[in-house]
Amino acid sequence: MKKSIIKSSGMSVPPYVVTNHDLEKMMDTSDEWIKQRTGIEQRYWVEPDTECGASDLGAQASKIALEKAGWTPQDIDLIIFATLSPDIFFPGCGCLMAAKLGLNSTPALDIRQQCTGFLYGLTTADAYIKAGYANRVLVVGGEIHSTGLDKTTRGRDVTVIFGDGAAAVCIEGIDTDEPCGLLASSLHADGNFADALMLELPASRLPVRVPMDVPGDDPRNYPVMDGATIFKKAVRMLPQVINESLEKAGMGLDEIGLIIPHQANMRINQALGQFLKLPDDKIFHNIQKYGNTTAASIPIALHEAMEQGRTGKSKDVVMFAGLGAGLTWGSAIYKFL
Ligand code: UT7
Repeated sequence: MKKSIIKSSGMSVPPYVVTNHDLEKMMDTSDEWIKQRTGIEQRYWVEPDTECGASDLGAQASKIALEKAGWTPQDIDLIIFATLSPDIFFPGCGCLMAAKLGLNSTPALDIRQQCTGFLYGLTTADAYIKAGYANRVLVVGGEIHSTGLDKTTRGRDVTVIFGDGAAAVCIEGIDTDEPCGLLASSLHADGNFADALMLELPASRLPVRVPMDVPGDDPRNYPVMDGATIFKKAVRMLPQVINESLEKAGMGLDEIGLIIPHQANMRINQALGQFLKLPDDKIFHNIQKYGNTTAASIPIALHEAMEQGRTGKSKDVVMFAGLGAGLTWGSAIYKFL
């Protein structure tokens, strides 16, 4: 059976850096609170009054990844785009981005699994490759949060966390006897906690999807989060789901060179490290620079970890893990060829 190999990666963030001090001018918050509670120092947002969708950032990231892989857009058999902030309600970002890459018939699908979108995308790519339906798959995670956040004190718990960004990974099926590629993955979802982190409107379940009597500043127009519930779930479920994938792969934690977790909160990832009794350099952190970029967070972290030489050499093994809205959570073990 073919092995799914990461050929290359690319990332893109908008040029506008928003520091915690910038946020202090918009709402009642402080650099100290944000750094202490989350580890975040800055994030990238699209410039005010600029039109830029998740598919635009995704296309920029994809072009970098494609060039590094030596692929043209026409070489792609399947596009998988993970996002919770699609450019428009429909059609999905995969279709929109394919057009921006100059394509007009390549299959494209969207994944709406939020913080674990990349893990679902990677696993789907691997399944397509192993089933013989595709051999060259472009997996993208991309988000524009900044245009949809409540930038008043009311929304501060959510708004200070999120940043815009995208990353893309070229994945190719190859024939080899080497134990490499996606060695194991574990995916989960529990919709009973959907309202712990959600954006309610527009809602097709309502008699009128965009109710006329809802003022622009109605809280239902903005993401809301029960931060404490998500935090507790993450600290409990991440070690479990990491162990689940280790068991499936028949591996021990000592065989993992680097853990690349979803970047939701530095404290969650530090707690994960303590629980697993790992030294801090075994867990990759870049939330300081980007905040939480949801579906883009794991591939951005992977891209940076490879650029910094923290992983990517032959036989290096990485563990991805994340939990977020849905709830969805998961992990995956990948071994470089
Ligand atoms: O990727 C998606 C998954 N999401 C997550 O993983 C997020 C998980 N949750 C978290 O990261 C944390 O719960 C937060 C960072 C969101 C919040 O941290 P916390 O330590 O759980 O704070 P809290 O919500 O318990 O709030 C503590 C206090 C409250 O004030 P009072 O009631 O104690 O007076 C909040 O109103 O901090 C206040 N607060 C803020 N203060 C300044 C909440 N947000 C802010 C803020 N600036 N931005």
